[in-house]
Amino acid sequence: MSDSTHEDEESAPERDARADGGATGADDVALDPWGSETIADYRKLFEEFGIEEFESVLPDTPDPHYLMRRGVIFGHREYDAVAEAMRNDEPFAALSGFMPTGDPHIGHKLVFDELIWHQEQGADAFGLIADLEAHSARGLSWDEIDEHARNYLLSLLALGFDPEDGELYRQSDNRKVQDLAFELGSKANFSEFEAIYDFGGETNISHLQSVVTQTADILYPQLVDEPKPTVIPVGPDQDPHVRLTRDLAVRTRFFKVTKAFASFELDDDERQLVRAAYDALAAGETDEEREAGETDVRCEDAAEWLETYGPVPELADAKPSAIRKLEEAGKEPLRPRVRFFDRNATEEAFEELIDAIEGEKRVFEGHIDTFDLSRAEAEELAREVEVDNGGFGFQQPSSIYHRFMTGLTGGKMSSSVPASHISLLDDPEDGYDKVKAATTGGRETAELQRELGGEADDCPVYELYAYLLAGDDDELTKRVYEECVNGERLCGGCKEQAAELMKEFLADHQEKREEVEDLLEQADIDLESDRRGSGGGH
Ligand code: TRP
Ligand code: SF4
Repeated sequence: MSDSTHEDEESAPERDARADGGATGADDVALDPWGSETIADYRKLFEEFGIEEFESVLPDTPDPHYLMRRGVIFGHREYDAVAEAMRNDEPFAALSGFMPTGDPHIGHKLVFDELIWHQEQGADAFGLIADLEAHSARGLSWDEIDEHARNYLLSLLALGFDPEDGELYRQSDNRKVQDLAFELGSKANFSEFEAIYDFGGETNISHLQSVVTQTADILYPQLVDEPKPTVIPVGPDQDPHVRLTRDLAVRTRFFKVTKAFASFELDDDERQLVRAAYDALAAGETDEEREAGETDVRCEDAAEWLETYGPVPELADAKPSAIRKLEEAGKEPLRPRVRFFDRNATEEAFEELIDAIEGEKRVFEGHIDTFDLSRAEAEELAREVEVDNGGFGFQQPSSIYHRFMTGLTGGKMSSSVPASHISLLDDPEDGYDKVKAATTGGRETAELQRELGGEADDCPVYELYAYLLAGDDDELTKRVYEECVNGERLCGGCKEQAAELMKEFLADHQEKREEVEDLLEQADIDLESDRRGSGGGH
C-alpha cells in the first residue's frame, strides 16, 4: 500500500490532503475540534473526509492492540507508513496531546493506551499538555491548567508511559515548538482557517495561534530527530488539525517530486490522462525501449489518442487542456521521467541536488528531469539534500482515530455530566455505582431478553467491556457479546460484573498513580506554569 502512495502520484497524499477539503463541503457532519464529541455517522468520515478504514491496515500491523482488533480504532490516514516502519524495525514516532480542561476520564485512557502501545512497539513517544490551547480556546486560568495537567500526566505514567524513554512537554514551555509554529504559520493564511475551523472576525488571535501550535506539535517529533513516520492517535474531531498539518508539511518542502512525460507541465488530472495515452500507445514496445526513451510515441499521437478516449468523469474537465498541451509539443517524444521541482529550495540546495543526481538528467529553470531514478529514490534524495541544507524534510504525519465512547446515561459522554462518564479519579465505589446505574441495550423484561437477546451493539455497558474492562482478553469480550445477543445474559448480572471490574480498575489505577508521583517529579516537565499569576486568570 505505502508503495503505491509513493510511486503513484495520482494517489499521492498531498493531493487529497488539501486542508480545505473537509469542513466546508459537509453540512451534516462537521468535524469540530472544540465542539461536542459525537459522530452521527462514521461512514461519512470515510466518504466525505477521506479518512481510511483501519481494517485495511490491520493485517499489516504487527501484534495489533486490542483497540485495533476490536474496531475501536476505526480509521486512519497513511498508517501504512508507520506499520511498515514497525515491521522493518525502522524509526517511527507517536505523539498526542491533551487539553487540560478537566479530569482525565476513561475516554482519554484510549489515547493514553494508544500512545503507550506505540512506545512499547519502539516508537519515540511524545505526550504533550496543550496548555496554550486550554488557555486560549477554553479560557482556563493557569492555576486550573496546572492542576489538570498534573492529573493527566499521572494517569499517563500510571498506565505505563515511560518518561525516560519518551518525552513529555507543555506547549507553553517548548520553544522549539513555538518557533516551528511560527514557520508553519507563514505557510497558512486566514482564509484557510475560516474554511477549516469556521474562524471569523470574532475569533481570538491566541486561539488561532494555538492551532498553529498544534500543527507544530504534530511535526515536532521529526524536528527533534530526523524525518520519520509519525502517528498521531486522536479522536476524529482532531482530523482537521491532522489534515492541515499534512498540508503544511508538504508546503515547507524544498522540492516537489512528480512524474512527468515530456518537457511541459501537467497538472495531476492531465497527467493521468497523458499516462493513459502513453500506456496505450507504448504497449507494443519493449521494456528496454521504454526505459531508454526509444519508443515512437510522440505528443501529437497522444493528443490524437485522447480525442476518442472517454476517461472517468472526474478527469473529463482536464481533457481539452491536456490535448492542447500535447498538440503544442507536436513531435516531441513522450518519455516518462521523474521531475524535481524547486518549491522552496535555496540556490545551494538546488545545485547540490543537480550534482547528487546519478544518471541521465536535464536541468531547466526551476526544475530537473531525471531518467534513471524511481520516484521513491528521487523522494529520498530530495529529502536528504533538503535536510543537508537546513530544511525540515518533513514526512506527512499519519493518524489513527478511535470511536468516542457512548455516555453511561446514553447520548454523548460529557465532562460536564458526571454520571455520563467515569473519571480516572472517581472513587472506585462511585465508579461501581455509575456502571450499575448505566443505560443498557437490554429489553424491557428478562423474559423478552431471553427471547430476543440484548442489543450489545447499542449498549454502553458492552462498550465498557470492549474498550476497557476486558483489557487484552478477546475471549471475555466475545463471550459477553454472544451471551448477550443470544439471550443468555441478563443486564443485572452483566452490569454487576462490569461494575466490579470497574471498581478494581479504578482502585488499581489510583494506586499506580500514587506510585508514579516520584517518576513525575523527576520527569523533564514543568508542573507549575511560569505564567501563573501573570494576568492569566479569566
Ligand atoms: N487539540 C487537542 C485536544 O483538544 C490537544 C492537542 C494539542 C493535540 N496538540 C496536539 C492532540 C497534537 C494531538 C496532537 O485535545
Ligand atoms: Fe448490555 Fe450486558 Fe445487557 Fe447485553 S446483557 S444489553 S451487554 S448490559
